[in-house]
Amino acid sequence: MGQNRVVVGCQWGDEGKGKIVDLLAAKADVIARFQGGANAGHTIVVGDIKYVLHLIPSGIIHPGKICYIGNGVVLDPFGFKEELDFLTEKNIDYTGRLFVSPAANLVMPYHKLIDAAEEKKRGTGSIGTTARGIGPAYVDKVARHGIRVIDLLSPDRLRERLDLQKVLKEKYLADSDDERADLDLIFRQLMEMADLFRELTVDVSLKLQQADSEGKSILFEGAQGALLDVDLGTYPFATSSNTTVGGALTGLGVGTKMIDQTVGVVKAYTTRVGAGPFPTELEGPIGEELRRAGGEFGASTGRPRRCGWLDLVILRHAVRINGVDSIAITKLDVLDGFDEIKVCTAYQLDGKELTEVPLDMADLVRVKPIYRTFPGWKSETTGVTSFDLLPEKARDYLSFVADDLKVAILLISTGAKRRETIFV
Ligand code: GDP
Ligand code: IMO
Ligand code: MG
Repeated sequence: MGQNRVVVGCQWGDEGKGKIVDLLAAKADVIARFQGGANAGHTIVVGDIKYVLHLIPSGIIHPGKICYIGNGVVLDPFGFKEELDFLTEKNIDYTGRLFVSPAANLVMPYHKLIDAAEEKKRGTGSIGTTARGIGPAYVDKVARHGIRVIDLLSPDRLRERLDLQKVLKEKYLADSDDERADLDLIFRQLMEMADLFRELTVDVSLKLQQADSEGKSILFEGAQGALLDVDLGTYPFATSSNTTVGGALTGLGVGTKMIDQTVGVVKAYTTRVGAGPFPTELEGPIGEELRRAGGEFGASTGRPRRCGWLDLVILRHAVRINGVDSIAITKLDVLDGFDEIKVCTAYQLDGKELTEVPLDMADLVRVKPIYRTFPGWKSETTGVTSFDLLPEKARDYLSFVADDLKVAILLISTGAKRRETIFV
């Protein structure tokens, strides 16, 4: 039987999931995205070519691999079309191997308008969303008035669903001269895309089950990270979907028997884009050095990412809520030049030591990290081909992390390219 793996981010996103999914896709047959939308930016570097994918599974770069976008994803049809054009431009042929669930909800232009308007209204409490309309699209889905891929296939139904939006979203849509509020224009543009979606729509749940029973190997590609999960993350500074393993089940219509392994992607330090608690954040020169060395600028929005040391408290949480079996540690090379490297092992709060994430986010804002300091290895790890050949101090750092989390290390990434990887 094929091995099916879920790949999830263990921090606040941008852990390097794109690279890891691309690597593991080499040995898989099918790759499926299960949640999130174009808020994701997954980077894959092959030779001199850099691909940034937002909606389309990172497996698409490998010729012949079958890719699915599940019902749990919120799909921006315009962004999706742009991504298809981008693939064509890069000579990646996706015909006959990229499919979409008819039950995926669509992100409409007006969702982006609402996303921006709500952010403004939140004022100092704004989340710092990606402005991709993700929250408002999931709101419509849960409120049961979302528009889904399948609605594109029937003009009458689409018209009816859009007419309902006119009533429900009056305060945003009426009297707006913003193009994104023009429902007639949206209707016409979507109708032009109907044939494209007609060709791509399949029963994703059924296809995955068939692939599994044929002994094929499936990779489930998560977006964002555990601490952005709407239920289990740093709410309200979170995204609007389940970024953790459960999202793979509901977002694709598969049962637990389909999952053999859960791989958590862990960046060797921590980053976060947008607002919200971040106990190990470094606002001084060390944080800036991490940002510079790691090129920490958002793949979707270009925003500078907040940077800090590795935080084992949040990682323990991520490992537990996902049932992580093994971790892929990325961007180890970024730490190569540091004199010393710190790891947060616990938090201090009101004279007490906490080893787990506090339940009240207001406490997470107040905690002070307790660090264990490791001497830097001060030598290049990029190009090292085996764990044993890594500097001893780097091995000590990695082993300390894996031992604390009680997980195996599947691989270590020491650069953005495919070959800059050590399989352990
Ligand atoms: P994702 O959202 O989890 O897929 O991650 P992003 O693509 O948003 O951000 C990860 C960034 O780090 C991308 O620019 C990758 O090309 C890059 N990257 C991935 N792995 C490594 C690594 O091991 N070392 C370095 N230096 N860069 C890496
Ligand atoms: P990938 O898949 C990093 C963050 C936003 C914001 C919060 C809510 O590339 O790791 P949203 O637009 O989802 O309503 O924004 O979540 N966020 C991400 N941060 N990587 C991502 O995706 C993210 N997707 C959303 O910055 O703080
Ligand atoms: Mg990203």
